[in-house]
Amino acid sequence: MKRFYISTPIYYVNARPHLGHAYTTIVADSLTRFHRVLGEETFFLTGTDEHGDKIAEAAKAAGSSPGQYADEISAAFRELWPKLGIEHSDFIRTTEERHKACVRGILTRVHDAGDIYFGEYGGHYCFGCERFYTEKELKDGLCPDHGTRPEYIKEKNYFFRMSKYQDWLIDHIEQNPDFIRPARYKGEVLSLLQSGALEDLCISRPKTRLSWGIELPFDENYVTYVWFDALINYISALGLGSSNFERFWSSANHLVAKDILKPHAVFWPTMLKAAGIEPYKHLNVHGYWLIKDAKMSKTVGNVVEPLALADKYGLDAFRYFLLREMRFGNDASFSEDAFVTRLNADLANDLGNLFSRVLSMTRKYFAGKVPAEAAHAEEDLEVISLGRSAIRNFQQLFKDLKFSMALESLWDLVRGLNKYVDSTAPWALFKAKDMERLATVMYVLLEHMRKLGVCLWPVMPDASTRMLSQLGIAFDPEAVDLESEAESWGGLRPGLDLAESSRLFPRVEV
Ligand code: MSP
Repeated sequence: MKRFYISTPIYYVNARPHLGHAYTTIVADSLTRFHRVLGEETFFLTGTDEHGDKIAEAAKAAGSSPGQYADEISAAFRELWPKLGIEHSDFIRTTEERHKACVRGILTRVHDAGDIYFGEYGGHYCFGCERFYTEKELKDGLCPDHGTRPEYIKEKNYFFRMSKYQDWLIDHIEQNPDFIRPARYKGEVLSLLQSGALEDLCISRPKTRLSWGIELPFDENYVTYVWFDALINYISALGLGSSNFERFWSSANHLVAKDILKPHAVFWPTMLKAAGIEPYKHLNVHGYWLIKDAKMSKTVGNVVEPLALADKYGLDAFRYFLLREMRFGNDASFSEDAFVTRLNADLANDLGNLFSRVLSMTRKYFAGKVPAEAAHAEEDLEVISLGRSAIRNFQQLFKDLKFSMALESLWDLVRGLNKYVDSTAPWALFKAKDMERLATVMYVLLEHMRKLGVCLWPVMPDASTRMLSQLGIAFDPEAVDLESEAESWGGLRPGLDLAESSRLFPRVEV
C-alpha cells in the first residue's frame, strides 16, 4: 500500500495563529485528503514548538511561567485547526515526555558516534532567530530577518559536527532532484552549500542563560538548542523504531515556508545522517503571504485572523482562495478584495451557478431524478474529452503541489460545462419535446458535477460533501478512487433523487 506522511512546522507558542500558519496547515490537510482519496494510507502531523528564549521571553512579558504560557497558546492552535476543517492525525508538543525522550535518545546516539564536541564560541546572537550569525551573514551589522542588532556572546557550548556532512548533503541533493522543491529552493540550498565551508552547529545553551529546554543527556548544565530539539518532532511523533515509524518515515514530506529553509534543508538532513536515520523524502517550500508588500507577521503587526475570514465568508471559500491564489513556492498578496472577487467569480458564478441551474432544470424536466442517457452526440463527446483532460491535469498538478494551476485546470471544466448548457439549450429541447436528447444532456452535466464534487473534496471538504449530497450521494472518502475519475464514465446512478435547489456559495455584495 502506498503511504503518505506530511508535517507542518511546529509553530512557536509566542504568538497566536494567523493566516500564514493557517495556509501551511490547510495545504497539509488538502494534500492529506488528496492522498486519501487516491487510496493511500496517510499520516498528518502538526504541533507546537515550546522551548527556547523566544518562548521564555514571551511568557515573562505576559507575566506567566513558560509552561503555563505554552499550554495556553498551544491550546489556541489545537482548537483552531478543526474549525478550519483540518483533520490532523497527531498533534505534538515539544514539552511532551515522548518528545523529550526521543531528543535525548538522538543526542546520545550522535554523541556516542563522536559527532558532538565541547568548545568555545563567540558570535552575534539574534534572540528573535535564536541563532548565532557570522559577520558575513549580517546586513549592515543587523539581523537579516529582524533588522535588530544582535548581541555578541562568547560562551562554552556543545557543537554538532555538521561540516562533516557537507559533501554528503550536496551529493544527496544532486542525486535526488526533488528532495527540495520547488527547484528554486533547491538551487538556493546548493549555492549556500557550495559557497564555502559549512560551520558546525552550536546545539546547546548554558542553563545559566536559559533553562527552558531539554537537558542534554550528557551534561546537566546545558539545555538543547531549540532547533535541534524542534526538528526531531517529525520523528518523536511517529516514535523512533515503532511500527508507525517503519510504516511512514520513508514517505516523509515536510511542508514549510522559506523562512525556515536552512534548518530543514541543512541542519535536519545532516542530523538524521549522523543519527543513522535515512533522510526524509521531500522538503516542500512555499513563499510568504504578504500584506501590501510586507511579510505578514506578528512582529510587523499586520496579521490576518484566519477564523474571522472563514466565519465571514465561509470556510470552503477561504480554503479555496488560499490554494487558488498562491502559486506554491512564490509569494502572494493577501487582500480581502481579492478574496471577495474570486469568491464571486469562481465560486458563486461559475461553480455555484452550474449547480443551481442544472438542479433546477432536472427538477423541472425530470422530477428531480437523474435521467438515463442515450447515445452521445458530438458536443457531448467534446465536453467529456475536456473533462478527461481537466481532471487528469488537476491530479498531476495537485500531486506536484501546483495547487493554483490544478484548480485552474478544473475550472476549465466548470466553465466548459456552463458553455455546454448554453449551447445545448436544454429549455429548447424541452420545448421541442426531445426528451431523449434532453436526458443525455442532463446526464452529461450531472455526471461531471459528481466528478467535480469528488475532485474538490481535498480543498473544500464541506462544500464537496454538500455538492455530492445534492446529487443524491453520501460521500465516503474511503470508497472513492480519485485516480479513476479522469477516465471512467457513468459513476452517477440514474434514478437518484437530487436536491430541489442548490445554494452552495452565496454572492458577496460589495
Ligand atoms: N517553530 C519554528 C518551526 C520549527 S519546525 C521544526 C517556527 N515557527 S513559526 O511559528 O514561526 O512558524 C513558521 C511557519 O509559519 C512558516 O514556515 C510558515 O509555515 C508559516 N508562516 C508564518 N508566517 C507566514 C507568512 N507570512 N506566509 C506564509 N507562511 C507563513 O518557525
